[in-house]
Amino acid sequence: MGNYEPLIRICQRINCPESYLRLVINDLEVLGVNELVSYGNVEFIGVRLLGKGQNSFVFKCRVGDEYYACKVRRPDASRPSLSREGEYLRLANSVAVGPRLINYMGNVIVMELINGVSLQQYLEVASPVKLRGVIKDLLWQCRRLDIIGLAHNELSRPQDHVMVVNDKAYIIDFESASLNKRVSNVSQLLNALIMGRGQFQDRVRSMIGAHVNPEELRLSIREYKARRDDESFLRLLELLGLK
Ligand SMILES: Nc1ncnc2c1ncn2[C@@H]1O[C@H](COP(=O)(O)OP(=O)(O)O)[C@@H](O)[C@H]1O
Ligand SMILES: [Mg+2]
Repeated sequence: MGNYEPLIRICQRINCPESYLRLVINDLEVLGVNELVSYGNVEFIGVRLLGKGQNSFVFKCRVGDEYYACKVRRPDASRPSLSREGEYLRLANSVAVGPRLINYMGNVIVMELINGVSLQQYLEVASPVKLRGVIKDLLWQCRRLDIIGLAHNELSRPQDHVMVVNDKAYIIDFESASLNKRVSNVSQLLNALIMGRGQFQDRVRSMIGAHVNPEELRLSIREYKARRDDESFLRLLELLGLK
């Protein structure tokens, strides 16, 4: 059996049901996870984690000689299974979006470890040139998701759902995703990044689109959302000076 000490320690402290721990350990075994590692920027009752969400604990983990991220469903999660999320991540991967999926079971997703920072943190240190590159890449990722009709649905909070490593952006957390051709990831992201109010938006605006007329941008986003074609997407990029 693998070494799942960090999870077992958490479970002892928060009193997970025995049945929960058995299920998770079974999934970890089936997925070939040899070890959960106490590592990361988040501390939870003496255990280090890559992250902690509403529904999950995210551990650094080892499979053979390789390290990955293991997203483990919490005992108090509002969703009974991570399977749908695993499926949507696989779909996102098909258009080169998201951390690379290794495999998943109902209680565990094994994926590429993104040893980076949140978009929020990145914004505080990145140069305007680098940030523009990251946002351009992100918009193209959103465009590819729009083309296959996969709505992430939480890009209205990109601060928490985009991680950056080596100036490359990764859209994470497909737990709320859905197949919906009417929702546009491009529009959601842009509305959140530059149309909204707040320090985050002010900083993005100062680095991209400072010269853009807000009304023109609003119309252009709306037009893209209605047409969702290459032409209106490229026009949007052009307006932002990201073409
Ligand atoms: N592949 C990954 N590599 C590194 N850290 C990750 C990875 N996936 C998630 N995390 C970290 O874990 C946190 C919670 O993950 P998330 O998928 O948002 O969980 P939840 O669906 O429970 O909200 C993220 O904010 C991030 O810090
Ligand atoms: Mg989430």
